[in-house]
Amino acid sequence: MSARAVRKISESELRRQRECAARVREINGGRAAPALAYVETYGCQQNEADSEKLRGMLLDMGYRLTTDGGDADVIVVNTCAIRDHAEKRALGKIGALKRVKTARPECILAVCGCMPQRGAVSETLRRSYGYVDLVFGVHALWRFPELLESALRRSGRVFAVDVDGDGAAIAEGIPSSRAGGVKAWLPIMYGCDNFCAYCVVPYVRGRERSREPGAVLSEARELAASGYRDITLLGQNVNSYGSGGGIGFPELLRRVNGIEGEFIIRFMTSHPKDAGDGLFCAMAECEKAARHIHLPFQAGGDRVLRAMNRGYTGSGYLALVDAARRRMPDIVITSDVIVGFPGERREDFDRTLELVKTARFDALFTFIYSPREGTPAASMDDPVPGPEKQAWFGELLAVQNAISAEKHAAHVGGTMRVLVDGRDNGGGGDGRPVFTARTNGGRLVRVTGGGIGGGDIGRFIDVKITGSTAWSLTGEKKELQ
Ligand code: 5AD
Ligand code: SF4
Repeated sequence: MSARAVRKISESELRRQRECAARVREINGGRAAPALAYVETYGCQQNEADSEKLRGMLLDMGYRLTTDGGDADVIVVNTCAIRDHAEKRALGKIGALKRVKTARPECILAVCGCMPQRGAVSETLRRSYGYVDLVFGVHALWRFPELLESALRRSGRVFAVDVDGDGAAIAEGIPSSRAGGVKAWLPIMYGCDNFCAYCVVPYVRGRERSREPGAVLSEARELAASGYRDITLLGQNVNSYGSGGGIGFPELLRRVNGIEGEFIIRFMTSHPKDAGDGLFCAMAECEKAARHIHLPFQAGGDRVLRAMNRGYTGSGYLALVDAARRRMPDIVITSDVIVGFPGERREDFDRTLELVKTARFDALFTFIYSPREGTPAASMDDPVPGPEKQAWFGELLAVQNAISAEKHAAHVGGTMRVLVDGRDNGGGGDGRPVFTARTNGGRLVRVTGGGIGGGDIGRFIDVKITGSTAWSLTGEKKELQ
């Protein structure tokens, strides 16, 4: 890829936002009761990271965060556009909020994220959701203080959508509010240049742009110093980090690994066409790098992979899996797959099944193809009926669930080191508290046992694995000998 200059939001523009934030803080300071804000997030980790920024800016504007929209003065719905189902869920939520807005017209209802980046959706919000006060896309996230101030001053509905993605830029220094204090998302790049035929991401999140290594490293240092134990480097395709010039992802990983502190480094997502031994060597070398890679394969058959514009073959993908396991025999490999891409036939789907049986993923995220307007796949012939795709999907799930269950069961009786990250609100049914934890490879472990308590959250402990399902492990905290 040729080097492309990344537009950075200037310090003076950022200062203007801080001034807007200060004015909103003043408005809120004059209220009898503290102003409350609620952010609801749909979609991927990038959206979670964006919501952390929204919360950071809301705190900066004098709001207190609540976990329920019912009593909030500002409600933000951060939306996802990846599949039709995600859009329907968010629209359902926005529809349900009409009641809140009717009961308390003074509350501000904002819709942001990926959906407003789609021209047709922002038009729908404009025409059919007249009670939504503020609509802004991902490229306008950093302007939230200014947009919220306009909405509060009631100068009409506020729309800030840039559907052609021209405004895609990098804004540094936006405050983030991360819940829990154990796990942190750390975006290293934004957007995507791959244009897989089915995917809306390059259209809504814009062209790929990497943050400067210095900015990533200083944020990683702050996170480590504040006690975060599990840091995930985020990007749609982290393996093309720095492709506009500068250091690549393996080197970035080494530098984050060099930061002092006891923490795990995760990253996602890796695109197979840009992953290779350079990455696996760096992972194997870095003691803080999780022994986990999320490597979406999307389809097993070469005909479908070509139509998807993925840039690799089924056998090329399996060779990568082998290479990763050669460097790190204990590596956890997870993946994404799409069933029912336009024109996929039974024999193509059989290649997907074969690949899953050969690769033996630890976990697989399975999706039925969902047409996205404006993508090349949306105008491809799609003769396979929905129920048939559903049947293939069921078949694939059964194959993968058996593999996951088998892989998990192999850990029963063993001891694993885990990072405790929270309480499991579902409880164990027998009154004993249950905590959630992750292994280095990212497997979920539900931990019980006399010795475990709230003080363990944020700590690495040894757990004896006592049970397993296809989705998680259960274990007991090992007492010190
Ligand atoms: N339909 C179904 N699944 C999709 N994904 C992306 N776009 C679509 C679509 N149009 C899946 C891919 C990707 C994951 C995040 O979502 O598997 O890796
Ligand atoms: Fe979408 Fe492909 Fe980019 Fe992933 S790599 S975000 S699937 S276009």
